[in-house]
Amino acid sequence: MAETYCLLGWVLGLAVGNKLWEVPDPVEQTPNSARLNWEPQCNYQLHHLQDGARINALLPPSIEGNWISTGCEVRPGPEFLTRSYTFYPNRMFKALQFYYRDQECRKPSHSLVIKGKLRLRQASWITRGATEADYNLLKVGVIFHSQEVMSHITAQVNQSCAGFVPPGRPWAPGRVYELLSTKVDKDCTAAIGFTMHELSLVRVEKHYNALHVGALVEKLFLGDIHTEGSERTHYRPTGYQQPLQSAMHHVHSCQVCVLIHHSDEHHPPVLPRVAHPQVELSGRWVSSQCEVRPAVLFLTRYMTFHAENQTWEGFYYHYSDPLCKQPTFTLYAVGHYSRGVRSERVSGGTEIAFRVSRARVRPLNHVIVQMLNSSRPGSCGTSGRWLVGKEQDITDTGGCEALGVRLPHVEYELYKVEQDSSGRHLLYMGERPTDGSSPDTTDKRPTSYQPPLLRCAGHHHALAFTLSAAPSLRPQGAAAAIVFLFSWILNLI
Ligand SMILES: *[C@@H]1O[C@H](CO)[C@@H](O)[C@H](O)[C@H]1NC(C)=O
Ligand SMILES: *[C@@H]1O[C@H](CO)[C@@H](O)[C@H](O)[C@H]1NC(C)=O
Ligand SMILES: *[C@@H]1O[C@H](CO)[C@@H](O)[C@H](O)[C@H]1NC(C)=O
Repeated sequence: MAETYCLLGWVLGLAVGNKLWEVPDPVEQTPNSARLNWEPQCNYQLHHLQDGARINALLPPSIEGNWISTGCEVRPGPEFLTRSYTFYPNRMFKALQFYYRDQECRKPSHSLVIKGKLRLRQASWITRGATEADYNLLKVGVIFHSQEVMSHITAQVNQSCAGFVPPGRPWAPGRVYELLSTKVDKDCTAAIGFTMHELSLVRVEKHYNALHVGALVEKLFLGDIHTEGSERTHYRPTGYQQPLQSAMHHVHSCQVCVLIHHSDEHHPPVLPRVAHPQVELSGRWVSSQCEVRPAVLFLTRYMTFHAENQTWEGFYYHYSDPLCKQPTFTLYAVGHYSRGVRSERVSGGTEIAFRVSRARVRPLNHVIVQMLNSSRPGSCGTSGRWLVGKEQDITDTGGCEALGVRLPHVEYELYKVEQDSSGRHLLYMGERPTDGSSPDTTDKRPTSYQPPLLRCAGHHHALAFTLSAAPSLRPQGAAAAIVFLFSWILNLI
């Protein structure tokens, strides 16, 4: 039941002060004919994750080569960074982590050079599709890109690791300071909360896109970082971070990848500006990939936000496998959301609160049906009435205890909207707390993000936009367009 425990994390929550929920007066409902057109595109994306790419994940994975970030990454804290990891045939690796002071990864603060040895072990029993690994660190060095950052970090390290930087030594650009070295038996990494536990969970996916001839993208998924800073150094990952991509196949089509690929610890990449379109939350958004949450849950999401009355609705499709092909159950939830406020803590982010007021559950396999069927009467819909494929409203029972859903419920969230290099709009919502709890107090508000949702329909010209922005349509011309439309039509039947 670990699976269902963290599931929804929609646990708990009481109503908050009314101010937050200044909901506009209801607007006259206009017949929404466009909706009929939008739905298929959103559904199409949901059912053809990765634009219909064929995904292969071999066990054990082959990880040799150079793997790089495809954008500015945000870790809990927040920390802004880019990564370039190289794995050699003799099991040695060299990992470069470039840290920044800003959310666009344009102002480098310091870089870490991490050298060590990695050994892949058995398939993970906890995270389906992942391989467990052991690693040893041989060397960790830090290079500062400014005096200010150097003073800040040395003050931290100096407390537990005196003489890390000899007193009075000014900042020397390009100089590597050793944080860890097995040769001299020194380890000052704990002082800055550094850990490479991400290397203990590994998955490689090969994505072949049938419509792009020869288009192969390889992704390296490494273990997730605990959302609670104090847990970070002992947490063993059960979920993933945003994947790195293989430099070999990806570099040409991605400007950021080229920059990161050609960087080193003395020349950290400075990323180009990212478009932050003036896009409202309103519209329809779907997952762009099968998402994994720690401990361990596979899901896709389909969210709709109505700005007119500040309501939202979300479908959460849960699966038992890492390619999101074997459904377990669907949760449908609706409620209101508050006005967004620019985040002080996470620059570039907007703070918002969601209220979940109603929810329905549709079990899709027998294991879930049995679990719901045998739940304590009054704790989850009508027990004994659950059937595969039959939806029940769980609002009257205050949610569903067995699934960890409690209603009504408030969550404090973070989001940002960005535009990718293909012009698609991406919605990043806050990362769920790693411990499976819910961000039901303001101090549990996320400081990092989940994988992005893709806008599949918005307010104006939505269909035209999504069609022209669908990546499978752009470069290949008419033939591909026909294939695309044909498969889309098939999907509707
Ligand atoms: C580090 O600590 C020593 C004493 O333990 C002190 O003399 C030195 O000034 C400190 N250096 C920095 C950079 O804080
Ligand atoms: C909010 O507006 C949307 C779109 O007009 C509508 O579908 C939905 O039912 C409304 N919700 C409420 C609670 O009024
Ligand atoms: C659910 O409970 C009902 C009533 O107790 C029972 O008839 C039905 O067989 C159960 N279904 C499953 C799948 O356990």
